[in-house]
Amino acid sequence: MTILNAIKEAVAYIQSKSPSKIDLGIICGTGLGPIADEITNPVSIPYSNIPHFQSGNVKGHKNRLVIGKLGNKTVAAFQGRFHFYEGYSIEKVTFPVRVLAALGVQSLIVTNAAGGLNHNFSVGDIMLIEDHINFMFQNPLVGKNHEELGPRFPDMSQPYSKNQISKVEKICLDQGIKIQKGTYIAVTGPSYETRAELRFFAQIGDAVGMSTVPEVIAAKHNGIKNVLGLSVITNMATGHDTHEECHNAVVEAANLATPKVVKLVKQYIKEI
Ligand code: HPA
Repeated sequence: MTILNAIKEAVAYIQSKSPSKIDLGIICGTGLGPIADEITNPVSIPYSNIPHFQSGNVKGHKNRLVIGKLGNKTVAAFQGRFHFYEGYSIEKVTFPVRVLAALGVQSLIVTNAAGGLNHNFSVGDIMLIEDHINFMFQNPLVGKNHEELGPRFPDMSQPYSKNQISKVEKICLDQGIKIQKGTYIAVTGPSYETRAELRFFAQIGDAVGMSTVPEVIAAKHNGIKNVLGLSVITNMATGHDTHEECHNAVVEAANLATPKVVKLVKQYIKEI
């Protein structure tokens, strides 16, 4: 089965459950699933029912697609993503984005939990992803290119839409939401970084995490116009102390920041 047929089958199944035109896709990162709980008149589709989907198994993820209304827009939110560190191929990791694109989605919000490298950040801050550095050294576009999906050599000079970033900055100013901005470094994990790695990363970026970049590359390849990336800073990861990282604390910190992210996403949706 080619990826093109797999996408078609997944899209046909999703449309059989929820035929409405989708305005916006959301990928909910660790601890940020409650964004999807805000959707009204939801149609919930477990990943295990969608053809060619895997059922993810990271704590803090519900593993279902929720389609319905958020404000005046129809959204499709993936509650739980597939991480490369779980052993999924990079093609599987990016499959939900391929499906969203095939559903006609032109706007995508990708959220994640990340460690803060920038000393000016605090736990609980939201960072607008301005740019990224792919330290996963995995690219979802390696292999045969499907022209139906996108070009062989897609541009990556502006993976996160500048005009969407400005829009969110304005919303945050108006609503009194503290917002940071910076470069996200993606690593494969699942081990957290050594202190030497963090000191190095702090020189080239502002936050570090184990996701998002493959999905954003696939989204740009697929021609999704408005890509917005939001990181919740769940722990400080500057390499200058010896505290131990712990996934439970990351999930907890993400949960604490969720209401703020929900408020921001809802307001943003109104304006797109
Ligand atoms: N490192 C990598 N990924 C993460 C971190 C971190 O410190 N926090 C949340 N995701």
